[in-house]
Amino acid sequence: MAEVLGPVFAMKLGSYKVLIISSQEVAKECYTVHDKVIDRIDLTASKILGYDVSFLTFSPCGPYWKGMRKIATSELFSTATIDKFKGSREREVDMAFKDLYMRYEGGAKKGVVLVDMKRALQDLVANMSLMMIAGKRYFGAAPNCEAGEARRYGKLIQDYFDYFGLYLLSDKIKKDMKRTAKELDEVVESWVEEHKKRRDECEKHYLDLLIEIFKNREIPGTTHDAHTTTKAICLNMVFAGSEPAIVVLVWAVSLLVNNPHELRKAQEELDQKIGRDRVETLRLYPPLPLTAYRYVMEGFDIANGNFHVPAGTRVLVNEWKVQRDPNFWLEQELFKPERVLTSQEIENNVSGMGMLFPFGLGRRSCPAIPLGMRMVHYVLARFLHSFDLATPFGQDVDMTESNGFVNLKASPLQVLINPRLPKSLYHVDRKV
Ligand code: HEM
Repeated sequence: MAEVLGPVFAMKLGSYKVLIISSQEVAKECYTVHDKVIDRIDLTASKILGYDVSFLTFSPCGPYWKGMRKIATSELFSTATIDKFKGSREREVDMAFKDLYMRYEGGAKKGVVLVDMKRALQDLVANMSLMMIAGKRYFGAAPNCEAGEARRYGKLIQDYFDYFGLYLLSDKIKKDMKRTAKELDEVVESWVEEHKKRRDECEKHYLDLLIEIFKNREIPGTTHDAHTTTKAICLNMVFAGSEPAIVVLVWAVSLLVNNPHELRKAQEELDQKIGRDRVETLRLYPPLPLTAYRYVMEGFDIANGNFHVPAGTRVLVNEWKVQRDPNFWLEQELFKPERVLTSQEIENNVSGMGMLFPFGLGRRSCPAIPLGMRMVHYVLARFLHSFDLATPFGQDVDMTESNGFVNLKASPLQVLINPRLPKSLYHVDRKV
């Protein structure tokens, strides 16, 4: 539609007027100059599933959001805190790759084994995130609780994610949402109780930090007690933390398998090059392709006064389109990681992120960029270092995208993997 209607146009979505922005300049203008008069949209899911709008992600820009945002940037996602959970992230990767190695040993006929890497990365990142937050592993071959419980809790968490992507809510869906919210609250309640009883010498998780923070601090703008706020932010982190990282990793591996030359280069010069691959993947496949969805509280003009955006309009950025804009990106459809360090497009921003918004825009952009990037970087680097990859009969990976609020690759990612390191490095003979 942007091709026909241009870089800024309004349309009706249900009963709402929505301004759709596919221009980098207008997006920047909207979410910097006018950021103060646009706010998060009220979502029914956030009331029912998010402890009555207590998630940082969905709360309106009032005192509660301000207080929480400060805690998020200065405490939860500071370098010192992120470093504390480094060992836990590394252990989850060790476990997942040990499992892949064992599947290779158990099933290889011609020195390779076929694996659905979309499933494997989903399990790995969900476990990594749950382990950092609450010390739980519910997905994959080695859950750290009884298998039935892991399946039930894993399914609850998946249902929970899916509800946030729904636009139209029937009474039946709302009833199901309430049931899921209640069941998941019981799960999170058990995590909090377990952590409150734990001894000092036990390994620490984000939940210990949240309990400590809210025990000693008055949070303005909420009627909830410290216990409920702890549960809300804990679940918010589970919800916000894994899905975007999964999406980036699945697309990054797909792009590299389809570009064997880039895959070889990345494997040869791992540290430097993977940074490039990651940024170029975020350009082509942003995890949230329609981002920064907000509500306009006071009208304003944009694009040199060419458009008036009245109060009550909803705005969103078509990031997928912005990041493939041929006015900015040469051969915009191609995966060219080297453009991050060499091209004109990137020259005015050394990190290569200046013209990309995969983490959103304005004051509501992602507060956990350092953690998200570390998770993606670490898993991708370890995976490419540990395994050679190919597709059966050298076929291209299917790059069909899904239509949802999160842009996950639609089909499985079937890849032949072949270990490239000595067996001892996959920890096969010992407990990880
Ligand atoms: C590659 C990984 C990640 C990506 C691409 C990503 C992307 C995003 C995007 C697009 C937004 C919405 C921004 C907007 O509306 O303008 C967002 C918000 C948010 N993200 Fe992330 N994210 C990632 C990882 C994480 C992680 C690991 C956490 C926490 C464990 C997290 C927590 C949040 C929170 C709390 C918000 C809401 C901030 C607010 O409304 O003030 N994200 N993220």
